[in-house]
Amino acid sequence: MKFELTEEHLMIQQAARDFAQNELLPGVIERDNEQRFPTEQIKMMGELGFLGMMVDPKYGGSGLDTISYVLAMEEISKVDASASVVMSVNNSLVCWGLEKFGSEEQKQKYLIPLAKGEIIGAFCLSEPEAGSDATSQRTTAIDKGDHYLLNGNKNWITNGNTASVYLVMAQTDVEAGHKGINCLIIEKGQDGFVVGQKEDKLGIRGSDTHSLMFQDVKVPKENRIGEEGFGFKFAMQVLSGGRIGIASQALGIASGAYELALKYSKERKTFGKEIAKHQAIGFKLADMATEIEAARLLCFRAAWMKDQKMRFDREGAQAKLFASSVAMKTTVEAVQIHGGYGFVKEYHVERLMRDAKITQIYEGTSEIQKIVISRDLLRD
Ligand code: CAA
Repeated sequence: MKFELTEEHLMIQQAARDFAQNELLPGVIERDNEQRFPTEQIKMMGELGFLGMMVDPKYGGSGLDTISYVLAMEEISKVDASASVVMSVNNSLVCWGLEKFGSEEQKQKYLIPLAKGEIIGAFCLSEPEAGSDATSQRTTAIDKGDHYLLNGNKNWITNGNTASVYLVMAQTDVEAGHKGINCLIIEKGQDGFVVGQKEDKLGIRGSDTHSLMFQDVKVPKENRIGEEGFGFKFAMQVLSGGRIGIASQALGIASGAYELALKYSKERKTFGKEIAKHQAIGFKLADMATEIEAARLLCFRAAWMKDQKMRFDREGAQAKLFASSVAMKTTVEAVQIHGGYGFVKEYHVERLMRDAKITQIYEGTSEIQKIVISRDLLRD
């Protein structure tokens, strides 16, 4: 067992770190305040290959492994979790799903521009009454011969307005339960497709989260991913991969907050010495560093298993469950270490604390991760 990154991994990590520091850090507070999408920065991320990192170069991607993706996600998330959620959804949920399960025509038409970052995608599973209980889809895709007629609403959709391509789960055969669900590819601007209200969120405020409405949207049959009724299994498998992305986002939020707290505690003096030298702060830093390292190893393990084409559902869920809890705990402690400064925007840690919370909610709450893990344990 080797705990070493390759030269290529280190280069990708450095490239992501440089990009985050030079392009994302300036303006991140303003974008958060104004709930402004990082349009220019996302365009640059596409040009640098960060939006289709694991996609085969023949489909416009960077052809990298999942470890590289974890490294880049951590660096971007240290600075701007709003940008990294766009990156995570595009890479893990949209590009990976299309590359693994899409037809050659779908790859040529949609995957190539998505992987190049010329357009971005959205993954649409959640509904007003189907969040954790994802089999209870109310959106319907009625079979009309050569097309489906799509009707219903989706909620909490990341990239809801900025996306050009949407992977939408819908029920075709209600009697068949989860076996009656299909995943359909919808394009922005199709008749009957309306982007609804933008959510005013606690965290990741630079990303755009919207509800979506579909009213008699005509979807050609060739836009269905996989066989009839494959949509739920598609969503579950894609979300398993997505959990590695969100685990890495949580890792990045935690390590970003830890680095700021470490720096501050070496500069700030009380009672005649740097606060880092007070045991109360030193112990906090020790806990933060240890838990972050454990979260990183869980992310690497899940990523490595995915790259080895092993089953990684449990390991991805474990990485997300643990890393998101570490993100929450570390960011709260980072604010505490900063004292009053931690409570104001200029010092970044309050934003990281707000951003951390969503990692325990989206792509499956912590409770959902425990369901996935415990079911897998019982399968052994
Ligand atoms: N791979 C392949 N198949 C899978 C699978 C996986 N990872 N997980 C489940 N399945 C299959 C099962 O084998 C089963 O198939 P059979 O009937 O043929 O045996 C079928 O799917 C149904 O599985 P379950 O009986 O386990 O389904 P369930 O109703 O009990 O639900 C659940 C399981 C894990 C709770 C699931 O509903 C779930 O993951 N819910 C959370 C959904 C979620 O993460 N939503 C977030 C939305 S996306 C988002 O946040 C995007 C964004 O914008 C950031």
